[in-house]
Amino acid sequence: MDIVSSYNEWDHLEEIILGIPDYACIPQDEPAYRSKLDAADLNTFTAGLRKDETIQKARVQFDNLARILEYQCNVKLLRPEKIDYSKSIKTPFFEIENQNCAACPRDTLLVIGNEIIETPMSNRARYFESMAYRKILNDIWEKDKNMLWTNAPKPTMADSMYNLDFPWDDKSKERKDWIESYKYVTNETEPVFDAADVLRLGKDLVVQNSFTTNRKGIEWLRRHTKSRGYRVHEIHFPGDLSPVHIDCSLIPLVPPTNERKGILMNCPERPIAPADKERIFSGSNWEIQSAPMPFTTKIPELCQSSYWLCMNLLLVSPDRAIVEETEIPTINYLESLGIKCLRVPFRDVYGFGGGIHCVTSDIRRRGDRKSYFP
Ligand code: ARG
Repeated sequence: MDIVSSYNEWDHLEEIILGIPDYACIPQDEPAYRSKLDAADLNTFTAGLRKDETIQKARVQFDNLARILEYQCNVKLLRPEKIDYSKSIKTPFFEIENQNCAACPRDTLLVIGNEIIETPMSNRARYFESMAYRKILNDIWEKDKNMLWTNAPKPTMADSMYNLDFPWDDKSKERKDWIESYKYVTNETEPVFDAADVLRLGKDLVVQNSFTTNRKGIEWLRRHTKSRGYRVHEIHFPGDLSPVHIDCSLIPLVPPTNERKGILMNCPERPIAPADKERIFSGSNWEIQSAPMPFTTKIPELCQSSYWLCMNLLLVSPDRAIVEETEIPTINYLESLGIKCLRVPFRDVYGFGGGIHCVTSDIRRRGDRKSYFP
């Protein structure tokens, strides 16, 4: 029986991995973590295990989402193993005191059709993160004879992989100049990418060049998927001074059909770079619409994400989405498009690395691979 099969972000969801908050830690200072922090948080954070109370609060919201997925959406749910992330790591290339967490499988596992790729990430604290999913992957692989299980080349995460002169201050003019010339904290020494930089539109994969995904990583994905007929498109959002993961910048809401264009929601503060928009979408069946503003611009401290987590929703079928409960402007917009919204509280999880889309990773959605471009 085929267990792994997911080609896009909207087909009817049947099985999914949902992360956990257990043993979550605040990473130590390292280039890939520094680059994601606000100027205000840069010199004030303390690494190590998150507070018990913070983890408990997140757990309540994770488990509530689990119930909604299982009992209201009829989705089969898988949860990662609990691993103690307060343990140190030492490799021949780096050493850190503690690791991260298994809250965001969307970053770690890239599902393309019948294949799951453990992605070559760039945060040292996330070096072994895919291990939390090894039991799940191994179990599925034993049962599903068509599943492809791949580990992309593991980067060294040595100092040589980063631009150590990166302008850390996210308010500085220098930072803006770097981002506008598509220069980020990771350099081009080794291929790196996070799964959450990849937007899956059937035969087309739109991949964000970002702090977490370099051009070599995009090229790796291009060569890896080429023989199966995938097309990989590189995209940039130069308005984002901390570009990490595409799922708060560009989200598909409505797939195109013969009768009407599809709709992609683009963050208004991070419009697609004009040249990319022209190259990827002009003459296509996709219309780009601006996302509504978030309900609030407040985010928890040490949150590696922005208030654009309001866009970080999960479509469980073309006409149903799970959205953070306070994001009324997003909910109204989706409902105006005929997408019913299930509202869940999720702000206590934001500090763990993301929103509702980030904390999940598809295993199976109904439907085959299609081309949504002419
Ligand atoms: N960089 C995004 C933002 O701040 C956050 C993306 C989180 N996504 C994820 N898959 N962890 O808006």
